[in-house]
Amino acid sequence: MSTIEQPLEIDGEKLMQFVFRAVDEVGATLNAALVVMGDKLGLYRALARTGGLTPEELAQRTGTAERYVREWLNAQAAGGFVSYDPVSGLYVLPPEQTVALTDPASPAYLPGFFQIALGSVIDSPKIVERARSGDGFGWHEHVHDVHEGCERFFRPGYNAHLIAEWLPALEGVVEKLERGAFVADVGCGHGASTILMAQAFPNSQFVGSDYHEVSVETARRRAEEAGVSDRVQFQVAPAATYTGDGYDLVTMFDCLHDMGDPVGAARHVRSTLKPDGTWMIVEPNAGDRIEENLNPVGRAYYAFSTLLCTPASLSQEVGLALGAQAGEAQIRDVVETGGFSRFQRVAETPFNLVFEARP
Ligand SMILES: C[S@@+](CC[C@H](N)C(=O)[O-])C[C@H]1O[C@@H](n2cnc3c(N)ncnc32)[C@H](O)[C@@H]1O
Repeated sequence: MSTIEQPLEIDGEKLMQFVFRAVDEVGATLNAALVVMGDKLGLYRALARTGGLTPEELAQRTGTAERYVREWLNAQAAGGFVSYDPVSGLYVLPPEQTVALTDPASPAYLPGFFQIALGSVIDSPKIVERARSGDGFGWHEHVHDVHEGCERFFRPGYNAHLIAEWLPALEGVVEKLERGAFVADVGCGHGASTILMAQAFPNSQFVGSDYHEVSVETARRRAEEAGVSDRVQFQVAPAATYTGDGYDLVTMFDCLHDMGDPVGAARHVRSTLKPDGTWMIVEPNAGDRIEENLNPVGRAYYAFSTLLCTPASLSQEVGLALGAQAGEAQIRDVVETGGFSRFQRVAETPFNLVFEARP
């Protein structure tokens, strides 16, 4: 059957509106590289709390070349990341940008978000190939900026919510952790969540695991630096075979949907938990229906999902490829198929959903 091509009726004004929106997006795409540049060269940190600097002064303080710094500052000023005073010729980092771009302790800290985005874009030619072949692309195959950016992106949210809100939302878990519990943090990456829990609950023992060896080595280093190595161990293991049993709590932070076989992982969690144990699952915030996710957070997550999460799952056995916007209904299905009888949503932030599963 042949299709008859319909002539397009173009609204010139709408076309130009779309073109100018695209100009903004191209600027934003390039700005991801500039934010990472500013972060790595210390430009934001040097600019912070100064009341304003000239390009010469900023270059001097950071040991960088003035001509590059001047161009970078103008791009930052055009995008509203810094402000420019044409009378004094000074560039100022406003207080809110100072927090978001230089304070790793703030939940609003952004450099890691840009770093993982830029790393994903750097690897995108490989994803173009895989989209043709249908093959996956493993988490371990990505550039370092993806792994480090992930840690730096998620940690501020864990700092803000994990100990204060998410763990207390689980029935009886904080009491167990205070007394001394046995905890597995599966798919732990660089161990940000494992270390945070170990700092808060010194009577408990923690086993972090991840299939990515290089991430596990970093996690071990981070635990030593944080002074919690006495109660934290890390092992290189996929979620289907991490060792130990009799766990009071198993946690998975932003990794269940990355796994090829999340149902297999759920079965293994079930087999390693105590009968009254708890599985805490932290996943990206998403509605069950596509149209609920057509917003800025959903946009960023669908994009990460295309470049990172979906290829990661497809690279593993089964390759279920839930995607980063799986939503509660699909996660519930995985958990119940894996042998859990109780499942509920216990907390939520604009970026995350937190679930409690019990045997
Ligand atoms: C988005 S990162 C999250 C890392 C960490 N949980 C965090 O919140 O910073 C996903 C992690 O899942 C790990 N991962 C993916 N598939 C896995 C599997 N089958 N078993 C164990 N870890 C896996 C990756 O190596 C990666 O560290």
